[in-house]
Amino acid sequence: MDPLLGDCALDELRRRTSFKWRTHPRDVLPAFVAEMDFDLAGPIKEAVRSAIAIGDAGYAHKGELGEAFAAFARKRLRWSPDPARVFPIPDVMTGIAEMITALTPNGSGIVINPPVYAPFFYRIAFAGRRVVEAPLLRRPDGSYDLDLDAIDRVLGDESVSAYLLCSPHNPVGRVWSGGQLTAVADLCQRYGKLLLVDEIHAPLVLPGADQVPFLSLDHEVTRRVIAFGSASKGWNIPGLKCGIAVAGSDEMADVLTRRWEALLAGNLGVLASVAAFGESLPWLDAALAQLDENRRSLSRLLGERLPAVRYVPPEASFLAWLDCGSLGLGEDPAAAFLARGRVALSPGPDFGTQGKGFVRLNMGTSPALMEEAVRRIAAAATSGAQ
Ligand SMILES: Cc1ncc(COP(=O)(O)O)c(C=O)c1O
Repeated sequence: MDPLLGDCALDELRRRTSFKWRTHPRDVLPAFVAEMDFDLAGPIKEAVRSAIAIGDAGYAHKGELGEAFAAFARKRLRWSPDPARVFPIPDVMTGIAEMITALTPNGSGIVINPPVYAPFFYRIAFAGRRVVEAPLLRRPDGSYDLDLDAIDRVLGDESVSAYLLCSPHNPVGRVWSGGQLTAVADLCQRYGKLLLVDEIHAPLVLPGADQVPFLSLDHEVTRRVIAFGSASKGWNIPGLKCGIAVAGSDEMADVLTRRWEALLAGNLGVLASVAAFGESLPWLDAALAQLDENRRSLSRLLGERLPAVRYVPPEASFLAWLDCGSLGLGEDPAAAFLARGRVALSPGPDFGTQGKGFVRLNMGTSPALMEEAVRRIAAAATSGAQ
């Protein structure tokens, strides 16, 4: 592994106190929640260390966040957002929930594309809105796509107020094309709906795919769009509490400005995010190279040990969506893998009914730990068959 990423030694990782490392007993290998095992980038460590050294743990100021994110977007995403339209938020889901509350009527429908990140379901429900599903299409080769006809149908419903799009998509790992995003833009424009775009995985787009930031489209609908980004997935700092909302218009920026006190980020998160977007690109490149290798090794490992599991390598990020339906382990194979294999994966049904028979594996680790996760899954699957 690249020295910038460390070596993911299990004894060291077990000293961490985060959700990933404290949820299960020591004999369980955690490969569920979306935290990576790599060391943090040097500039991030330095930013947090120097802030703590001078007692700089007060309420966050936006500081250089807008400029740092805009510079990153220019370099890596071919997009030049106006730094004045970039707003710090505590985390992406809080930003999304707050904007749903601010901009949609109580009880109205919010469209999502399951199988999708579980909190989309419950944060919409907590906000007093209804989840309206436009499921992804599953192709015969196991890959997924947006179902534009289904999206058209549900957006046409008057009781639907908004569409929450995941781009790149978690858990299926798809990176949507400019053409697909334009089609989504046309539909939202035609029906006059609000569009919230979760681009948290955008920094982790892998070789071969081309991420199109929604607000880089030249489209009228961007007036009613808020895009959400973060350094939290890309640089593995979700616990520092800083995400980003980018307003597609002055009108959207006004809503974010008015709600600033409900959307205070962590000061350490802001400082760490500035260091991530600015000086931590070599670390990001090392992480991307490792994830690219891991997604390919996973095909080989599954082919050798679990050929019945279907896996389409993701185009972005570190999450593998595994169809374990033919292993005969029921709707929630993650339960059997945990009980019999002592490996913790994310249960597929958490991502919607379409996730029955699936699990999500976290590949943000060393090749050795990923191989160990597969070994445990295979052991559990085999012991189940006996
Ligand atoms: C699509 C998506 N959105 C949001 C989040 C959570 O982000 P945050 O911690 O900033 O709310 C995740 C975390 O894995 C995610 O995959």
